[in-house]
Amino acid sequence: MKHTQNVTAIILAAGKGERMKSSLPKVLHELCQRPMIHYVLDQAANAGIKRCVCVLGHKYQEVRKALGPNVESVIQRKQLGTADAVKQAMKTVPRSGTVLVLYGDTPLLKAETIKSLLDHHQRSGASATLLIANVKEPSGYGRIVRDRFSSISAIVEEKDCDEFQKQIHEINTGIVCFEAGRLSQALRKVRPNNRKKEYYLTDCIGILAREGEVVESRLLPDMAESLGVNSRTELAEADAVMRGRIHEEFMKAGVSVVDPASTFISHGVSIGEDTVIYPFTVIEKNVTIGKHCRIGPFAHLRPGTALADEVTAGNFIEISRSTLGPGSRAKHFGFLGDCRIGRSVNIGAGTVTANYDGKNKNITVIRDGAFIGSDTVIIAPVSVGKSGSTGAGSVVTRGTQVPDGATVVGVPARPISRRRKT
Ligand code: UD1
Ligand code: MG
Repeated sequence: MKHTQNVTAIILAAGKGERMKSSLPKVLHELCQRPMIHYVLDQAANAGIKRCVCVLGHKYQEVRKALGPNVESVIQRKQLGTADAVKQAMKTVPRSGTVLVLYGDTPLLKAETIKSLLDHHQRSGASATLLIANVKEPSGYGRIVRDRFSSISAIVEEKDCDEFQKQIHEINTGIVCFEAGRLSQALRKVRPNNRKKEYYLTDCIGILAREGEVVESRLLPDMAESLGVNSRTELAEADAVMRGRIHEEFMKAGVSVVDPASTFISHGVSIGEDTVIYPFTVIEKNVTIGKHCRIGPFAHLRPGTALADEVTAGNFIEISRSTLGPGSRAKHFGFLGDCRIGRSVNIGAGTVTANYDGKNKNITVIRDGAFIGSDTVIIAPVSVGKSGSTGAGSVVTRGTQVPDGATVVGVPARPISRRRKT
C-alpha cells in the first residue's frame, strides 16, 4: 500500500466544545460506548496510516489519559485557530511526505474515504487535496471558491463570506491532505485577518493557489461521514449512524437483529451466527454472545458478560459481569450479577442474585445442570453444585454451598431429602 507510506495524520482535538455544555472534553463523548476520538484513530489505522499526532488543548490531561500511552499527542496552549493547531503538530513532522488533517469530533469518516483521498492526492501530485461536499444547507461551512478555470482558488469561512459566496453549495469538510513541506511554508504566512481573529488552516489553500501550486479536491458522496459533533443533538445523530453500522456488520455476519430501531449494541461486542436479538435490547461493551442464542425482548446485557452457544436471555433480565455456559436459560425477568453459571442451567423467573453487600461484589457459582426455582434470591457468595436445585421462593443465604444433586428450599433455604415413595 504505497499511498500510506510517509503519511502522518494530524487529529485536531483541542477545542472546548462549548455547545456540548459539558465538563467532559468533547472528543471523549461516546458513540456506542466508545469515545468519539477513538473512532477517528481506528479509521486512520484501518486506512493504513502508521502515525497519528493528536492536537490537544482543553483538559488535555484528561484526553491524554483516555487515549492511553500509545497515542502521540502535542499540546496547543491557546486555541488560536486550526492553522495554529496544525502548526503545533508540524513541529514533530518531517518536511517530506504527506500530512492528512482529521478532526477528533468527526467520528463517522470511513477508512475507504481516507484511502481514496490519499490515493488521489498522491497520484495527482498536488500540494493539497481537499475533501469537499455538495450540500443543500451550506451554512456554517467554509465555501470552496473557484476561479474561471474551475480551479480551487480559496476557502472562505461562513463568517467572512459575501452575499455571492454565501450562495456556494460546495463546502469544505475540513478533511484535507497536504504535501508536508508546502504546508509548513504556507502555515508561516497565515494571518488572523478575519472576523474570528483566528489562524485559519483554510487560508493555506488560498496561499498555495496564489503561488501557483495545484490544489485538488475529492467529492465526498455521503455527507453523513463528515458530520461534526458540536452539540448533544449532533451527538445523538452520530450515535444513531454508528449504531446502524454496527447492526449492519452483525447482520452481514449472520446475526438476526429483529428490530434495529429498538436495539442498542455497543462497540466491542461479539455475537455468533444465527443468534437472534429481539426488540428493545441493550447490549453493552465487552459482552460476548455465542451462536444460536436468543436475546430479549427487553434484555439488558452489561459489560463483562459472556454467553456461550445456545443460551437464552429472555425478557426483562439484566445480566452483569457473568458467564453462562452452553444451553443455559434465563428466560424471564431477574438480575444475575457476578455469576459463573455452567451448562444447561435453568434460571427460573424472578431469580435475583444479591451480589453486592454494600462493600464487595460477591460471586455466585451455579454448576452444570442446576435448576434454580422461580423467585429464588441468592445472597452471594453462594455455590450450587451440579444438578443441584432451589425451591421456588427460597432465599439462599450468604456462604451456602448446595452439594451436587441436593435441593434447598425455604427462607432461609435448608436442604431437604427427597420424599420416599410409600
Ligand atoms: C472548520 C473549517 C471549515 C469547515 C469546517 C467543517 C477552518 C478555519 N474552518 O470550521 O472550513 O467547513 O471546519 O466542519 O479550519 N481546533 C483546534 N484548535 C483550534 C481551533 C480548532 O484543535 O485552535 C479543532 C477543533 O477542536 C475541531 C477542529 O479543530 O475539532 C475544527 O475547528 P472548528 O472551530 O470546529 O472549525 P469550524 O468553524 O467548524
Ligand atoms: Mg466545527
